Amino acid sequence: MSATGPGAAGDPRLFGSFLGWATRVRGERRIAVTAEQIFWLIHADLPRASPGSAATTRLLIRLAGHLPHHPRVIDIGCGAGQTSLVLAADTGGTVLAVDTHPAFLGRLRESALAAGLQDRIHTIVASMRALPMPDACADLVWAEGSAHLMGFDDALASWRRLLAPNGLLVLTEAEWTTPHPAPGARAFWSANYPGMRTIDGNARAALAAGWTVHATYQLPDSDWSAYHDSLADRLDQLRERGFAPKLLAQVGGQEIEIRRQHGADFGFTGYVLRPR
Ligand SMILES: C[S@@+](CC[C@H](N)C(=O)[O-])C[C@H]1O[C@@H](n2cnc3c(N)ncnc32)[C@H](O)[C@@H]1O
Repeated sequence: MSATGPGAAGDPRLFGSFLGWATRVRGERRIAVTAEQIFWLIHADLPRASPGSAATTRLLIRLAGHLPHHPRVIDIGCGAGQTSLVLAADTGGTVLAVDTHPAFLGRLRESALAAGLQDRIHTIVASMRALPMPDACADLVWAEGSAHLMGFDDALASWRRLLAPNGLLVLTEAEWTTPHPAPGARAFWSANYPGMRTIDGNARAALAAGWTVHATYQLPDSDWSAYHDSLADRLDQLRERGFAPKLLAQVGGQEIEIRRQHGADFGFTGYVLRPR
């Protein structure tokens, strides 16, 4: 999922259960699949797994303000690492990219090599819920489209210890843009991210948890369309190869449709947070 799909990736509560049957090879062979298998099949080659762009990552780096000369960065739930590449190139620092899906990390290592950034991007398979890094080891903790997998509050609480003095946490979070979303949008997000709040709700929660909200930035529509256009193309390819449309809709298509119908009711916001 973007906001939802990749989220589920690696989450044993959501994945691993029998989802249905995928029909392959013109209906001659049917195989049982889980939501996780379908998710990886869809996302294996996509550049991103959530709304975002290099431009947004760069803007958030600028909003973070002054950073050490060679900052130590951790990119949590990095996916295939488009963001890690920008972070390494633009901050001049070193990036430790974390994900539970080894294939994504393999793609990132290839991209880092191609960009000549292999000495400054390192990868680790680990869960965001139990990161093996020591306290105060990072100047910048970054998480695009992944904090919702733990929930905003738990992410803030558990990642805070990683920050060195003057360190910053930057994340993007799925949010309501209205207190009264349409019933269709509400139903979709209650199933995928029941704890989703408005920007005011998240800003208040961050303040109450002992953070200063240094900056916020609502991701533009183009960050959604970049992700959803590539996702829609991939779903079309899989449909043509005979994969069951209902399964593809469950793991990707619904989100595109909800965004098309009710996109004004929700969005993604980037937060730059500093512990108080
Ligand atoms: C929505 S994707 C975002 C990926 C990337 N940051 C982007 O913006 O394209 C969420 C990522 O979190 C990873 N993930 C899922 N559960 C995780 C966990 N418990 N710990 C670390 N990463 C996890 C998934 O494999 C996926 O790559």
